[in-house]
Amino acid sequence: MGKLNPSFAEETVIVTGGASGIGREIARRFGAADATVLVADLDEEPKEGGTPTHELINEEGGTATFVETDVSERDDIEVLVEAAHEYGGVDVMVNNAGLFIGGSILELDPEDFEAIHNVNAKGIYFGTQVAANDMIERDDPGSIINTASISSHTAQFEQVQYDSSKGAVRMITRGAALELAEHGIRVNAVAPGQIATEFIEDWSNEAETKAQNDELVKMVPLGRAGKPEDVAPAYLYLASDAAEYVTGELLFVDGGWQIF
Ligand code: NAI
Repeated sequence: MGKLNPSFAEETVIVTGGASGIGREIARRFGAADATVLVADLDEEPKEGGTPTHELINEEGGTATFVETDVSERDDIEVLVEAAHEYGGVDVMVNNAGLFIGGSILELDPEDFEAIHNVNAKGIYFGTQVAANDMIERDDPGSIINTASISSHTAQFEQVQYDSSKGAVRMITRGAALELAEHGIRVNAVAPGQIATEFIEDWSNEAETKAQNDELVKMVPLGRAGKPEDVAPAYLYLASDAAEYVTGELLFVDGGWQIF
């Protein structure tokens, strides 16, 4: 099979939620493709353990730095995007940080609902807004890529709070793509399926949710759960000039799960 190897030399990429899981792999891939990477997260320590992402990228010959960021705080996002000015300004904004809390709509604590929406929906809305304004002010249009989910499209049992936040990601992406096209800014989303990260490990701790998760994986036509390595290349494709006519897209990377 052919290989797609985009280069992001001279470009600056922000990856929120870049300390762990999918974001960590996205950041590494951009680092390996010669981008300067700003890893933004609550904490630099990966949930899965190991060397912090930015240090790993630097060890691997790339250029990366860590910016402590809470994406649910708009001020933090402003500081983050401002930090990219030191490297010429953000060219690619990956709004990936996400939070999962399961539970029935009949019982979910209102604070949990707010916590999920503050990260998954508000964080992506303001990440898109702040990055787009910065690109327009610098007259240097780039690309914005949001992490959606199969939950952006398909309801899952006892996940209304998560599904609704990821549904919002889909429509933030589409609406922003429509509005920002005239500025030359493309906005797309990647919708991962079941991906083996600590995100899912947290969810799988209880026997009942683990059983549900196992059932979901059984329904993957390609026959296995995904890995961050399966998902990350989609971000590089969407950020690259190979995708220069692609905007408002929700790209499923789910082993075919959403076909049903
Ligand atoms: P993860 O839990 O391994 O990593 C998420 C990262 O986001 C962590 O480093 C965490 O510290 C960070 N984060 C959480 N809240 C934050 C905040 N307020 N500000 C800054 N950073 C914050 O999770 P994973 O699996 O890598 O998920 C990444 C994205 O992919 C999320 O948006 C998630 O909803 C989405 N996703 C994951 C799937 C999966 O099966 N793992 C499936 C579909 C979507």
